[in-house]
Amino acid sequence: MTTNKQTPAPQRFLTGITTTGTPHLGNYVGSIRPSVAASTGVGAESFYFLADYHALIKCDEPARIQQSTLEIAASWLAAGLDPERVTFYRQSDIPEIPELTWLLTCVTAKGVLNRAHAYKASVDKNAAAGNDPDADVSAGLFMYPVLMGADILMFKAHHVPVGRDQIQHIEMARDMAQRFNHLYGEHLVLPQALIEESVALLPGTDGRKMSKSYDNTIPLFTPRDQLKKLIAGIVTDSRAPGEPKATEGSALFQIYQAFASGPETAALRQAFADGIAWGDAKQTLFERIDQEVAPMRARYQELMQDPAKIEAVLLAGADKARQLATPFMRELRQAVGLRRLAAAPAPAAKPKSARAGLPVFKQYREADGKFHFKLLDAQGGLLLQSDGFDSPRDAGKAIGQLQIEGASGLASLRPKLQPVPGVTEDAINAALQLLAPEVP
Ligand code: TRP
Repeated sequence: MTTNKQTPAPQRFLTGITTTGTPHLGNYVGSIRPSVAASTGVGAESFYFLADYHALIKCDEPARIQQSTLEIAASWLAAGLDPERVTFYRQSDIPEIPELTWLLTCVTAKGVLNRAHAYKASVDKNAAAGNDPDADVSAGLFMYPVLMGADILMFKAHHVPVGRDQIQHIEMARDMAQRFNHLYGEHLVLPQALIEESVALLPGTDGRKMSKSYDNTIPLFTPRDQLKKLIAGIVTDSRAPGEPKATEGSALFQIYQAFASGPETAALRQAFADGIAWGDAKQTLFERIDQEVAPMRARYQELMQDPAKIEAVLLAGADKARQLATPFMRELRQAVGLRRLAAAPAPAAKPKSARAGLPVFKQYREADGKFHFKLLDAQGGLLLQSDGFDSPRDAGKAIGQLQIEGASGLASLRPKLQPVPGVTEDAINAALQLLAPEVP
């Protein structure tokens, strides 16, 4: 039913980088390096942007937002991102994004946002501390997924390379697109999360995942002597020189592996077995990282001296992005009815407004005495058909579960439902979303 109006090729990739903090080796290995590599591939259109509106949700220090925006832009450019080949822009230079955010806000069930991981984590933390569930939770945090949906849907991205923690957000963007398309016609492309399985999570200096929140990062373009010092601080075990060392569970080895070739990695593995001293292993790691990073570091420092140049690159990127966003937003405004009044009125009005034409559940009793229900779409097409329930209450309960739980309710009730040929799960989920009650 809701088939995706795919443009044949090229495939479009889009990802955002929140502008809080300074890029570290983990960001480089996990995001910057693979993204720059992918952007040089043929047949792909890449969109990379600085998610500075998202940064405001986490950070209320203006100077830090500005500094981080500069550092991240300089890092991506220094790492070889070619702004001629890709569309590289700053989110807040695209006024169409907050505009689309509002349209999406109006087709997003509040109950769905209640279930977003980041918001739920805050609520759970408050509950555990005996606080009001929404203590210290901004409406911005609550709306995070909708803003992200606008980022993605604005540019009709097919693939969104992200970390695992972002999968739920991409699924939400899909749901928003589906619901919007259901109400207003096929305008939005349904995106998919792209998880790079081969990109290992880089451990930090303490062995846990490298992350700002653990304070265990190595900044990507820290000066050479500082890089050496930070690498010297990587946690190792207490094995003495000459004693064989385990590569398994060694942060040092894992970081090395992320930078070295296969043969280089094999050589260090052998050195571990031969009892290399930790100090020597650290020196090897330092040299290998510095070899890759040093030329980029020089470019980075040059760029950081010239913020006006970066600004010009970003503004040119915004121009390029808005050549798509501006007409598309015009199309979407038209679709939802934000229209010029002087223009010719719409031809014969549809019999019912799009909103009035909602899917419906119908309950009925079969000759076998059992109670059944079906779900029909707005045009009366069959989407779901249940088996028989013993009482109308049982059937009603199942309907309630589908309405409240959506996709997960559908999954758990599957054994009581009959397949309807040609109807996809996506179509059923889109219909259920339309029926989802607003959760207070
Ligand atoms: N939320 C993403 C993160 O924290 C950043 C982001 C914002 C993003 N908008 C996006 C990623 C759109 C992909 C697509 O990593």
